[in-house]
Amino acid sequence: MNALEYRSFAEAWEARATIRTRPRRQVEDDQRLIYPLSRQPLVLGATFQRECPQLRDFVLVQSLYKFINDVVIFETEIVDRTARRIAKDRFAVRFPFACRYDAMTVVVDEDYHALVAMDFLQQSIALTGIEPIALPQEIELSRAIPAVLEQVPEALRDALELICVGIAENTLTDDVAAFARDDSVKPSVKGLMADHLLDEGRHSSFWARLTRIYWHTAPEADRQMIAKVLPLFLRQYLTNDIQQAFDCALIDALPVSDTVRQALREEALGLAYPINRQHPLLSNILRFFRSSSMLESPCVQDALRDYLP
Ligand SMILES: [Fe+2]
Ligand SMILES: [Fe+2]
Repeated sequence: MNALEYRSFAEAWEARATIRTRPRRQVEDDQRLIYPLSRQPLVLGATFQRECPQLRDFVLVQSLYKFINDVVIFETEIVDRTARRIAKDRFAVRFPFACRYDAMTVVVDEDYHALVAMDFLQQSIALTGIEPIALPQEIELSRAIPAVLEQVPEALRDALELICVGIAENTLTDDVAAFARDDSVKPSVKGLMADHLLDEGRHSSFWARLTRIYWHTAPEADRQMIAKVLPLFLRQYLTNDIQQAFDCALIDALPVSDTVRQALREEALGLAYPINRQHPLLSNILRFFRSSSMLESPCVQDALRDYLP
């Protein structure tokens, strides 16, 4: 198939989009966990297990709240923004109507994911009686995208934004999938994640196809300018700063002694993944660079050489 040819997924969206096909998920009042242990390593640490295992559910529910908060920011402030401008043809990179129609389905899906997340937040607070601690106002992408956009000329900003969102929409997938496999977690939470995942499968290929269309028409000088800022984007996107600040705030909210608090903090700070080729999200990111054809360009290979296997 021609690299620039585009086939709409509108029929698949009508048949499978979760907003078209899924009932409301209701959180169960049972003994199962509200958030997977594997997603909050703090509760698996030696200090936590020894000193305050009874606080596990408090930490897990707060971690679910943060996850929900992140989803709402990502969907409404990042993906919605870019997809909506593409749909309305207010984007410097022009796309045919079929792409713009599909972009509008992405807007609808993402806003629906945010709504479902907010519904689940409300249900979880009602079930547990636990109010969220102060949640972050931004996610890693809220900083990483503006940081790289200001590094390139105005005319390239939308193209770069498309690529950044494409990367992000290709990493969320595995992130969400980790929930779906965990049998200790409430079925409603797993169902929620599985629903989201189903839509994101469509999105990840959508963003890769749009990026491929752009990349094939981009002049070499533009490609080089974009490739040059990719390492900065990855460093900022994969940073653990916001998660660590949240974990510290969460530890501060625990009713434990100062000695235990200090030990928990030290354990939490040791949990960060180094930002290198072993980072768990990197294989997805490289898959996006392959499926969008960007990795065929020597300038991209060169920019990503620290991350390539
Ligand atoms: Fe989503
Ligand atoms: Fe998405």
